Amino acid sequence: MKVDGKHFRSIWRERDGWSVGAIDQRRLPHEFIVAKLTSCEDAAVAIRDMLVRGAPLIGATAAYGMALAMREDASDAGLKRAYDTLVVARPTAINLKWALDEMRTALVPVDPVERAEAAYARADEIVEQDVEINRGIAGNGLKLIEAIVTKKKPGETVNLLTHCNAGWLATVDWGTATAPIYLAHERGIKVHVWVDETRPRNQGASLTAWELGHHGVPHTVIPDNTGGHLMQHGMVDLAIVGTDRVAANGDVCNKIGTYLKALAAHDNDVPFYVALPSPTIDFAVHDGIRDIPIEQRSGAEVTDMTGRTADGRLETVRIVPEGSPVANYAFDVTPARLVTGLITERGVLKPDRASLAAAFPERIAVA
Ligand code: MRU
Repeated sequence: MKVDGKHFRSIWRERDGWSVGAIDQRRLPHEFIVAKLTSCEDAAVAIRDMLVRGAPLIGATAAYGMALAMREDASDAGLKRAYDTLVVARPTAINLKWALDEMRTALVPVDPVERAEAAYARADEIVEQDVEINRGIAGNGLKLIEAIVTKKKPGETVNLLTHCNAGWLATVDWGTATAPIYLAHERGIKVHVWVDETRPRNQGASLTAWELGHHGVPHTVIPDNTGGHLMQHGMVDLAIVGTDRVAANGDVCNKIGTYLKALAAHDNDVPFYVALPSPTIDFAVHDGIRDIPIEQRSGAEVTDMTGRTADGRLETVRIVPEGSPVANYAFDVTPARLVTGLITERGVLKPDRASLAAAFPERIAVA
């Protein structure tokens, strides 16, 4: 996608052919800074500290992390060490394990002398595959937006709501939830996006708004609790969110607060769709609410807020009384019964085991 007229992806191989460039998402929207990852440890820290974040991008970064590791030590022990280091970097997004399993499967049969080259080749494929998948999601989700257009008066705007950042920054390019929105905008459909700020890390306010703004998509940032009110007043035609893991039964894990939006949508007959690439499906988890691990992050994300002062400095301030305990669950699970449909690269599916299994039979075989 474009940043100030220049095309960017969220992650790429640098010109030297081996180091990896990524946008430092901790600094947005205040500063556009590119980080250089030169080791497996760099990749693990980038994922853990959320320099990169978003389920598909976490997977892509882990794949390159494995390639960087193979330059350092391509032995069987080195391969295992890299896998073990990267797989624990964050617990909820299944794309991390998916990408590492793909890398391991590709590398185990290869002679260690050739492993680094093979690792970069497979990581590049994973990255390109993500872009292709998201193009598929764009086309399939566009049909949902077009269906809304047919019910509206000519020239009326389609109002969408999204939570967190499931945009191009969260993937390699295009995004998942945003992909149909970008495509609709490119096709001349009038869209407007309500962007949940998404406390405590504010990925909506800081990242989704930044993306949409750079792409010229009309949007409005709202406090997290506003969605229900907007839905009650007919101001949301369609909600589309991303996901970090979809269980085999169609339960959807996504950024904390997604469940409350789904409840509000259900109560107001607002269609609630989840956009996902197939690597986000975890056929090994049969009950999302019971079995998906929910990341708990530092309380500092809740107690402190960082912003830019009028004179341009970045400043962190505390907003919670000293001594008050805080809790920081990073994700929640929306039960399948509240999800209208799953927008995938192979079509819009019902959120249930049979539909997921019929669309992605090859994934069940490996689960
Ligand atoms: O904690 P984050 O910023 O990694 O959480 C990201 C999300 O919850 C996204 O909605 C999800 O990863 C889908 S990204 C296409």
